[in-house]
Amino acid sequence: MDGKGIGITLTRHIYESQQVHPEATGEFSDMLNQIAWAAKVVSREVNKAGLVELLGLTGEKNVQGEQVQKLDRFANEVFTSVISGSGHFCIMASEEMAEAQPIEASAYKTGRYSIAFDPLDGSSNIDVNVSIGTIFAIHRRVTEGQAGTEADLLQPGRKLVAAGYVVYGSSTMLVMSTGNGVHGFTLDPSVGEFLKSHPDIQIPARGKTYSVNEGNFPYWSDGVRRYVAYMKQKDPSTGRPYGSRYIGSMVADVHRTLLRGGIFMYPADSKDPLKPHGKLRLLYECSPMAFLIERAGGAASTGRSRVLDVEPETLHQRVPFFAGSVENVREAERFIAEHDEDG
Ligand code: AHG
Ligand code: MN
Ligand code: MN
Repeated sequence: MDGKGIGITLTRHIYESQQVHPEATGEFSDMLNQIAWAAKVVSREVNKAGLVELLGLTGEKNVQGEQVQKLDRFANEVFTSVISGSGHFCIMASEEMAEAQPIEASAYKTGRYSIAFDPLDGSSNIDVNVSIGTIFAIHRRVTEGQAGTEADLLQPGRKLVAAGYVVYGSSTMLVMSTGNGVHGFTLDPSVGEFLKSHPDIQIPARGKTYSVNEGNFPYWSDGVRRYVAYMKQKDPSTGRPYGSRYIGSMVADVHRTLLRGGIFMYPADSKDPLKPHGKLRLLYECSPMAFLIERAGGAASTGRSRVLDVEPETLHQRVPFFAGSVENVREAERFIAEHDEDG
């Protein structure tokens, strides 16, 4: 606790980090506070979804061909409304919207940033009261003119200026980075403030937990199957077999991996010929999570190369994802390099 022992708010944290990085103008503070505000509104509804008829399906399908949950749509409406009204963004992209939405400059403001977000991650877990989340990725715009274009969104993750996620779990936490350390803030609902609870998160160099949907085992490449089988072999000298944890919400699985170490994976699989690169989307799931994990001292790979170096081609493109403790990710890459054809 600091000051009068009342904790450091998100606002104060951003202000203090600005003192070190003047280029992060007051605009950054307001931008991140706007996102925090949207997260508070979504958190309030998530925590009473069962009571206000926000559970269940809307009956619609999104661009991913997935059923849209009522909470998906609600969260998307909250974030698009706050983002488009903030004055900071020139264009936004959401998992729930087929096309990117340009944001016209207002009389007083032209947005200098673009944002891609997953308004509600882990939708399949909404109705069973398991942790879900929101993920966001912020780039500096690269185009001129009134509103932004897709070029402002289709930038490699290594150029991100900020990224973060919110996990709506036993408590609501916002974990973010503007490039200098990864910090966790826990929402105190009694005062409606995010208070810094996890300063400077560092992921362990190696962990003994792996996180993957083993139901996809028959559809994985030979290298991935051998790697997962390796982690389950009995060898006390290398701490194997590892423990298995899989929640099915990327935000929750990545959050645990960030705090405890180990590896979270969504490998490519042959289950759906239309999705040869696995299920997770680059722009608003893999890139922001890779940014955070690397800033916390970890690694994030497609199995063959650094996620943050992937040059995006389309808004909703997918990539295989292996992320967490550096030693675990490098081990996965070795199995793939040794047993899979070059691909
Ligand atoms: P979303 O709900 O935003 O579509 O994301 C769900 C993703 C991700 O949260 C999770 O890691 C993955 O789906 C789980 O997929 P499987 O159920 O196929 O394991
Ligand atoms: Mn998601
Ligand atoms: Mn989603």
